[in-house]
Amino acid sequence: MGRKTILLLLVGIFTAYYGYTPLPDNIEEPWKLIGMTFISSTISNVALVGEVLGINHFMNTLMFFKSFQDVPPTSDEIVTVMDTTFSNVPVRVYVPKRKSEALRRGLFYIHGGGWCLGSAAQYSYDVLSRRTADRLDAVVISTNYRLAPKYHFPNQFEDVYNALKWFLRKDILKGYGVDPKRIGISGDSAGGNLAAAVTQQLIDDPDVKIKLKIQSLIYPALQTLDMDLPSLRENSQIPPLPKSLMVRFWSEYFTTDRSLEKAMFVNQHVPVESSHLFKFVNWSSLLPENFKKGHIYSSPTHGPSELARKYSGFLDVRAAPLLADDNKLRNLPLTYVITCQYDVLRDDGIMYVTRLRNAGVRVTHNHIEGGFHGVMTFPGFKIGHRVENQYLSWLSENL
Ligand SMILES: *[C@@H]1O[C@H](CO)[C@@H](O)[C@H](O)[C@H]1NC(C)=O
Repeated sequence: MGRKTILLLLVGIFTAYYGYTPLPDNIEEPWKLIGMTFISSTISNVALVGEVLGINHFMNTLMFFKSFQDVPPTSDEIVTVMDTTFSNVPVRVYVPKRKSEALRRGLFYIHGGGWCLGSAAQYSYDVLSRRTADRLDAVVISTNYRLAPKYHFPNQFEDVYNALKWFLRKDILKGYGVDPKRIGISGDSAGGNLAAAVTQQLIDDPDVKIKLKIQSLIYPALQTLDMDLPSLRENSQIPPLPKSLMVRFWSEYFTTDRSLEKAMFVNQHVPVESSHLFKFVNWSSLLPENFKKGHIYSSPTHGPSELARKYSGFLDVRAAPLLADDNKLRNLPLTYVITCQYDVLRDDGIMYVTRLRNAGVRVTHNHIEGGFHGVMTFPGFKIGHRVENQYLSWLSENL
């Protein structure tokens, strides 16, 4: 065999290896997802090699590649876009250009990326914010926050909370022409986690007089206790968020020490002293029958107390909003939740829907059959456009 043949063979094997992603039948446009997975798993492998060789932290390599998707704050004929800071937290603000007689609605948006990646400047979030501002004739604040692995919980939470509190000041709202009675919060994935967490925190904050009218949680991560939910079992290999990556994100939120990740992956990270918390994430009682099909609930397993002592954040309600009790949940605003069929985080969202409804909160649940994690902000998917339209219509009617 000539050298060229060998090279061709290697490229062939490489392509087949990465290109082969076993996908369920009802995923639309599977080739787009396969193509995207090919790119992201290649980057992911580069990041893994970099980490094994001790060159760069896994997440920092991913962030390096992601940062190429950032765009500057460019105004167009429809919306004025500017970068500024709210209480020292960098945010991107979108204000519609058309004249408005009345005060506008306001939406505070939090990007996803596993508490490690992403930015308000990322192309897909920039586009979403522009569309939101235009469709709703609303002022959109797209916030940034400090990211892991450099910063851990509760920095992410606190940045978002501080920026939100700043926005909710009377003088700030007035400056942007925003109606204090029509302000909502929204976020996807880790941003959905932060949206749910700060919305809970806001209820009891005596310093904040202006409250939120709605919260919108797009395939949010909401709990750290049970890493063996039916959705985690069924979708553990489904791109773009396999269970291994989700567990890595979760653990990086709290620490760079890989022992938490290892314990989480086998679901042995919650100490026996915290057993009472499991009732808040009991999928056996919180999931509707059709999502439990074929799964057998087994009692939670426990891990060493040492992990929870060192990294107590993973048992903190500000990191895991499903750990809030019903008295807290009862006071939450009108809620919109998107979940996707092929997503490890599906059951986090569904359990929150059940718990909120049990507590008397009005919830619209939009479950996307054939949807996968991140579906709304991956450019170019038809299903993503449909979901975005449903989301914007809901906001338009309810905010
Ligand atoms: C979970 O709920 C089931 C009933 O659906 C119950 O038998 C089980 O004891 C509960 N487990 C925990 C830890 O709350």
